[in-house]
Amino acid sequence: MKLFIDTAKLHEIKEAYSYGIIDGVTTNPSLLKKAVKKLEAEGENISIKDYIKKVLETAQGTPVSLEVTEYTADKMIHQAKKLYEIFNPVAENVVIKIPVNPSFVDNKNRDFDGINAIRALANENIPVNCTLVFTPEQALLAAKAGATYVSPFAGRVDDYIRKNNGIVFEKSDYFPAEGWQTEEEYLDDNGIFSGIDLVEKIAALFDYYDIETEVLAASMRNVRQVREAALAGADIATIPYKVIKKLLVHDKSQEGMKNFTKDIVPEYANLTK
Ligand code: G3P
Repeated sequence: MKLFIDTAKLHEIKEAYSYGIIDGVTTNPSLLKKAVKKLEAEGENISIKDYIKKVLETAQGTPVSLEVTEYTADKMIHQAKKLYEIFNPVAENVVIKIPVNPSFVDNKNRDFDGINAIRALANENIPVNCTLVFTPEQALLAAKAGATYVSPFAGRVDDYIRKNNGIVFEKSDYFPAEGWQTEEEYLDDNGIFSGIDLVEKIAALFDYYDIETEVLAASMRNVRQVREAALAGADIATIPYKVIKKLLVHDKSQEGMKNFTKDIVPEYANLTK
C-alpha cells in the first residue's frame, strides 16, 4: 500500500519525505487554510502560489492533489484546468481533486456536476482524485467517469455513524472496522458499517470488475485504522502527519531497545568504532 501525507504544511511534508517512505501528498481547502494560518502566525511572507510550488517541488516524482473550490461543473473544469496549467509545469505531479457530488447550497440539481467535471478532465488526461466519497456507488461512478483515484473518507463515515446514534467520541478514537455492535444490531449507514468497511467494499468492487482507479483511503484518524485500510485492500492511505509519527510506536519495541542497550558487550560495540 502506498502512503500519502494528508497535509498542506510544508514542514510536515518535508519531514515525512525525509523518511523515504512517502508516495504522495493530498491537500484540501481546510488543510490549506491551516497551513496559511500557520504561515501568517509565523510572519512568513510568501504567496500561496509560491508556497504551493514549494510543496510540488518537495514532492517531486510523486502526486500532489490540489482541490477545486468551485462547485458547478463548468467552473470546476475551468478552475481545474487553470490549476493544472499553473502548477503542473513545476514538477509534473499535479492531481486535481474533484468532489463526487458538489451539491450543497441550494436545490439546484447539481448531483452529477462532479462526475461531469471528472469526465471532462479525464478526457484531457488531467488526473483526478475524486473526493468526499461515502458510498461504493459514488466510487463506481467516479471510476467510470475516469478518475485516477477515489477517496473514501473513512474517519468521517465513523463520525457519521456515531453521531447519528448519539455516541460521544473524540476525533482520534478508534472505531471497529467490523462495525459498532449494540445489544440489538450493528450500527450502519445504509449498509456501510464503518469507514474501513467502505474502503473494503470499494476495493472489492474495483477488483471484481478490474477497475484501474486506485482506492485512496482518506480521513485516517489513528494508526489502527491505517493498518485496517491496508488489510481492506486500499491502494493508498493518506495520513495526517501526527498519525504518521505514531506508526512505529510500540511499548515493547522501546522496552526491547532499553534491554538490548543495557546488555551491550563493550568489545562487540567497539568492533565497529
Ligand atoms: O483526506 C481527507 C481528509 O483531509 C479529511 O480528514 O480528518 O478532516 O475527516 P478529516
